[in-house]
Amino acid sequence: MPSDGAALLPYVAIVKSVRSMTPDIKLFDLEIEDEAVRRRFAYKPGQFVFVSAFGVGEAPFGIASVYSRQPGIEVAVRRVGTVTSALHEMEAGARVGIRGPYGNFFPLDEYKGKDMYIIGGGVGMAPLRPVVNSILGRRQEFGKLVVLYGARSPQDLAFADEFDYWAEAPNTRLELTVDRGDEGWKGRVALIPAVVKELAFSASNSVALICGPPIMIRFTLVELKKLSFADHQIVTTLEAKMKCGMGKCARCNVGDKYVCRQGPVFTLEQIGDFIEAY
Ligand code: FES
Repeated sequence: MPSDGAALLPYVAIVKSVRSMTPDIKLFDLEIEDEAVRRRFAYKPGQFVFVSAFGVGEAPFGIASVYSRQPGIEVAVRRVGTVTSALHEMEAGARVGIRGPYGNFFPLDEYKGKDMYIIGGGVGMAPLRPVVNSILGRRQEFGKLVVLYGARSPQDLAFADEFDYWAEAPNTRLELTVDRGDEGWKGRVALIPAVVKELAFSASNSVALICGPPIMIRFTLVELKKLSFADHQIVTTLEAKMKCGMGKCARCNVGDKYVCRQGPVFTLEQIGDFIEAY
């Protein structure tokens, strides 16, 4: 779709539902108004869209839904600025602009037969959620699935209503962790890199997919490398780097690569030491 020049213009979409998942993250289900556009708006896990609040501005979001599972497009919006605040004020029935889908994607077919480690931090779990649900939808094609998801506090864990579905799937493990617990939290209190080290993920025939705050990505990479993960076995999405999303603002470069043009999904082999500056 983005190869169509018209895709640089936003389509009008209706907010079908808005759900508060954490104190500052809401999940929006968007449906493009034009039926013909809606039918051809196909996307894959890892791709992103720009969503605009009319009169305010637009921002990029990794798509949080699986294309084949539902007709809408879900995005998780964390309230961090003017656009996301404007979106947070919206209710079902509101209209927004949407353009995309853009970017490359997690090549799931290349991961068939491998053990999968999905490592998400905070709202960074959003683009990984369709990966998890895609794998669960074709469970026999992959080896072991471990989902490690961390947030600042128990209240900051998004997608909580899917945790049972993930945890109870065959050959699948869900590991949750928080930076700070509370009276009701019986789970792990530790930073994600420390959990990676503690669980000693096996690099043998496996792939690790990571998305989250830059500092979490950097320190998680260090632990994965200590566990003998090779650079081609570590895949991350750097969507948080993007601003214009169209190769115009030059603010998304990682080394000689533009995240919006060549990403947002990269193996560590592709971006190498430049991740240090991320
Ligand atoms: S986001 Fe502007 S050039 Fe990539």
